[in-house]
Amino acid sequence: MSQAKPAAAPKRKTATLTESSGNKSLEMPVMDGTIGPSVIDIRKLYAETGYFTYDPGFTSTGSCESKITYIDGDEGVLLHRGYAIEELAEHSDFMEVAYLLLNGELPTLEEKKKFEHSITYHTMVHEQLSTFYRGFRRDAHPMAVMCGVVGALSAFYHDSLDINDPHQRMIASFRLIAKMPTIAAMAYKYSMGQPFMYPKNKLSYAENFLRMTFGVPAEEYEINPVLAKAMDRIFILHADHEQNASTSTVRLAGSSGANPFACIAAGIASLWGPAHGGANEAVLSMLRQIGDKKNIPEYVKRSKDKNDTFRLMGFGHRVYKNYDPRAQVMRKTCHEVLGELGVRHEPLLDLAMELERIALEDEYFVSKKLYPNVDFYSGIILRAMGFPTSMFTVLFAIARTVGWIAQWREMIEDPSQKIGRPRQLYTGYTRRPYKPVQQRG
Ligand code: SDX
Repeated sequence: MSQAKPAAAPKRKTATLTESSGNKSLEMPVMDGTIGPSVIDIRKLYAETGYFTYDPGFTSTGSCESKITYIDGDEGVLLHRGYAIEELAEHSDFMEVAYLLLNGELPTLEEKKKFEHSITYHTMVHEQLSTFYRGFRRDAHPMAVMCGVVGALSAFYHDSLDINDPHQRMIASFRLIAKMPTIAAMAYKYSMGQPFMYPKNKLSYAENFLRMTFGVPAEEYEINPVLAKAMDRIFILHADHEQNASTSTVRLAGSSGANPFACIAAGIASLWGPAHGGANEAVLSMLRQIGDKKNIPEYVKRSKDKNDTFRLMGFGHRVYKNYDPRAQVMRKTCHEVLGELGVRHEPLLDLAMELERIALEDEYFVSKKLYPNVDFYSGIILRAMGFPTSMFTVLFAIARTVGWIAQWREMIEDPSQKIGRPRQLYTGYTRRPYKPVQQRG
């Protein structure tokens, strides 16, 4: 009886790059993900052809393989380890999402309690760190304080700097996630000239942060459960977002072997930019600049003018060409918080909703698929909760520290990881002889 032929191995997908002269051609492997775009593996391109690729904004470049977060920009889908952001925002809490991002699975009750204990018992900072704040002016932007203080953690916690020791990586991760709210609240208190508040271990992550920020030693701070839930949900919505600018900064810093505190400080610096995490602060400034609904058409017109630097902050996204699913949840939370606070009439919210309505009907925005992103509504909620505009990006940094840590650990634990070192298209001078100063000018 003839042996059944073994099924032919599926032909490996490849992509071929051929020079127009036809002299050079390179066949490169195509790698498929679980979902989402496949990638062309160009790692041998330069060695075999002498060519670099060119993609300054990394619009078509996959910098790594990851299992943490998936975004479908056309469909407006955001998954964390396979779970949709809408479901996590509705049913989960920030500590559970943090565990999920870090470990890949939702925790059992026992695992969650153990994780929360680990975080809670790292919320205090070294007492000497509080003197570090004295070096800043009271009116320093809190993001400047965050960059400085978080980077300085590596001067205090020498027992969790060795990135090659899994235990030290875990302790550094717990310390960063746990201490960010404490450091952020201290930055706010310092700017207000109020005393620092110590964390309370019986409170949840969000409750602790609200108390350290708005509480004072002179009286008990009463937790508002609706605001605490809103804070926790806002943290969930900002926890991770694939290879965005600040996460890519953390990965690149970490690829050199820099300690985790330095890497997270680098991420904070990148997040600060108004095109990225600084957008929530910029949205409030923009709404104040627009001032009245009657001015919206003029500003929408300006945002289309290439000669005008004005852009509609909180609109557009490199990946989302549909509604940012986080913006939808944020809008719902906005109404809940304003309702809880008894804010019947919030002019900035009315202005924001009218701006959203007009922009979403405008041909320019429709054709370029510019939708509200996560930052469009967050500023209005945070302002209603009592945070000054300058603290908005700080809150983003607190939440995103979980994502930065998860991505950093994935990169460190990837056996194939190497130092990130992009190349360039050089268009400067070719070699030329030095010219003594007497011969210049
Ligand atoms: C975050 O990457 C992430 O995942 C980030 C983030 C995360 O969670 O980590 O989601 C958080 O950073 C959200 C984005 C917050 N930023 C803003 O809201 C700032 C305003 N938005 C823009 O700066 C812009 O939309 C970016 C930076 C967000 C995206 O810029 P891209 O992908 O480089 O797109 P682009 O600048 O090339 O814009 C494409 C076109 C351009 O017009 P053309 O040159 O094609 O004619 O759309 C226009 C832009 O001029 N455009 C806008 C606009 N955003 C883009 N026009 C008016 N207003 C805007 N907001």
